Amino acid sequence: MTTRIAALKTVAAFAKYLTAHQIDLRLDDRLTVGTDSPLRQPATVAGRTLGNRWCVHPMEGWDGTQDGNCTEPMLRRWRRFGASGAKLIWGGEAMAVTAEGRANPNQLILCRQNLNSFLALRQATLDEHRRRYEQTDDVLLGFQLTHSGRFSRPDGRLVPQVAYRHPVLDRKFQVDSERCVISDDKVRRLIDRYIKAAKLSAQVGADFVDIKHCHGYLLHEFLSAHTRPGPFGGSFENRTRILREVTSGIRAEVPGLLIGVRLSAFDILPYRPDPDRSAPGKPGLGVPESFTGDRYDYGFGVKPDDPTQPDLTAAIEFLELLDELDIRLVNISCGSPYYNPHIQRPALFPPSDGYQPPEDPLVGVARQIQAVAHLKARFPQLFLVGSGYSYLQEYLPHVAQYYLRTGQVDSVGLGRAVLSYPEMLADATTTGQLDRRRICRTLSDCTTAPRNGLPSGCYPLDEYYKQTDDAKRLKACKQAV
Ligand SMILES: Cc1cc2nc3c(=O)[nH]c(=O)nc-3n(C[C@H](O)[C@H](O)[C@H](O)COP(=O)(O)O)c2cc1C
Ligand code: SF4
Repeated sequence: MTTRIAALKTVAAFAKYLTAHQIDLRLDDRLTVGTDSPLRQPATVAGRTLGNRWCVHPMEGWDGTQDGNCTEPMLRRWRRFGASGAKLIWGGEAMAVTAEGRANPNQLILCRQNLNSFLALRQATLDEHRRRYEQTDDVLLGFQLTHSGRFSRPDGRLVPQVAYRHPVLDRKFQVDSERCVISDDKVRRLIDRYIKAAKLSAQVGADFVDIKHCHGYLLHEFLSAHTRPGPFGGSFENRTRILREVTSGIRAEVPGLLIGVRLSAFDILPYRPDPDRSAPGKPGLGVPESFTGDRYDYGFGVKPDDPTQPDLTAAIEFLELLDELDIRLVNISCGSPYYNPHIQRPALFPPSDGYQPPEDPLVGVARQIQAVAHLKARFPQLFLVGSGYSYLQEYLPHVAQYYLRTGQVDSVGLGRAVLSYPEMLADATTTGQLDRRRICRTLSDCTTAPRNGLPSGCYPLDEYYKQTDDAKRLKACKQAV
């Protein structure tokens, strides 16, 4: 039986719970505040100084204009990223390199016509950071470049463009024709779009671009394109050709721009709610989708002979390549919010298209933290950002401090925790006290809203969203499930 974190009133109670449930997570009993805090240690990344060890993960809000420009809610979100005190702003949010690769009709499009939006987002973030923390020359702010591939919804309808036919995901996400498989010619054109988008990013002052390889989107899917014929499938060399060509193109055109990669380092089979245990308004416990073949050659970082289990072998091979390419900035995530959200963003309450957590969400947190620790031991020369910390709630700073202090991660990334309480780690490292009313309780409204065509935001805890008509619509959508 899972206990709510808020019910574990002390660090000792939390630690006891971990032990009792055999969850392999460590934490420091006491928070160090001030400049001695492991969270406030500077780092040097690819010759640049980074002022501290926490990072804001990319988080889209589904709230841009139809032509891919920014809006006031978006500017507000980025200002709050600046207010967080994090010196690493990883991507801000996913930005499509082509209109057809958008995950929703309100996603940013990084193209020449929209450049003022990108200037404004960067400026808003840095201005707010400077206002609160004075210094910005120790901030690294990058843009996350994406093509949504299988999950493209440029006008709201699913218009999938897949790397290869997938026996489970095709069934789940309505891929029924070879026409959905992106052609080699189109991939070549897409490589140019990534390079152009990187050039534009540099023009508006981004410090780096993330060539996004996570969450089931197109370039992540290419990493497991074992069954695809031609130059972009089959061998490891072919499956990583896009990354290598994008990297060499960027290096040739914009030599000063840093390159990072966000990677889903492991995966497992897609999940669904157990139909026998689902009721209206309450999806059943998550169970793996059925797969009856002998070998699961369709995932990156899964055991082919037991796809319910993750496997870091593929990630190690991929990180070796990043090292060879001199890509030092690596943000480790896992799985996909579309088909196995419980591993990607552990939560007590599922989003409307999800399922009841099949494990204590702390197990999901530990899985991500252990994966990063394993990769860090193997690749001390890479700068690794960890993900999946928000479910830790009150104890997030204690766990973050332990893993940073022991060198098992280089920067602790925050996703949902920043939406509800941007200054969480700034508070933890200055006063050691948190405002408990603002801590994200993983209620998943920020995922449920966009799944129902509404902008994302922390509806339960952020007054800005709480009072809106969208909050009423969200409530109605949840009741209608
Ligand atoms: C509303 C929302 C939007 C997100 N958008 C992105 C995105 O654009 N790009 C990305 O790589 N991850 C995205 N993520 C995933 C987060 O970056 C992060 O990996 C995830 O929330 C787990 O971290 P957490 O436990 O700190 O929330 C999003 C997550 C949420 C909740
Ligand atoms: S809606 Fe708010 S409380 Fe719920 S998961 Fe998102 S950030 Fe956390």
